[in-house]
Amino acid sequence: MVGSDRILTCGNYRVIQVIKWTEAYATGIAEIDKQHKMFFRIVEDFRLSHVEGRGATVYEQVVNLLAAYARGHFGYEESCMHAHNCPMAANNKLEHTQFLRFIERTRKQYRLHGYRDHESEELLGTLEDWLTNHIGKVDVHLRDCVSK
Ligand SMILES: [Fe+2]
Repeated sequence: MVGSDRILTCGNYRVIQVIKWTEAYATGIAEIDKQHKMFFRIVEDFRLSHVEGRGATVYEQVVNLLAAYARGHFGYEESCMHAHNCPMAANNKLEHTQFLRFIERTRKQYRLHGYRDHESEELLGTLEDWLTNHIGKVDVHLRDCVSK
């Protein structure tokens, strides 16, 4: 879903659809769920800032925060998957690596060109898609491994 699909405007009234953590994303490990909820909050806050015209102000910090938070969270989650012999462990690690590379490319673009509104919009769409797909299709496999 692209960003504009998430905004409904009627006169001065605007409704913004943000992505939310639900039980469907539960992994069976409370600490991981807590970290995932924070991930959702970072992206939600970024979406609201962008829509309110504060994209340029928050962009660099959001990207830096994402890079740092993702690194810490991924490390923790990967060790949990490894400890529980989760068959998704290798795939999970691969997607994490690809995500971190993507964030690094994003940071590089910012250093080269500065803030660009369309890049911020694209980043948001990618983050929203990545988060819901990755957690919903890969991370949730932990649930079965933990309950064994
Ligand atoms: Fe993951």
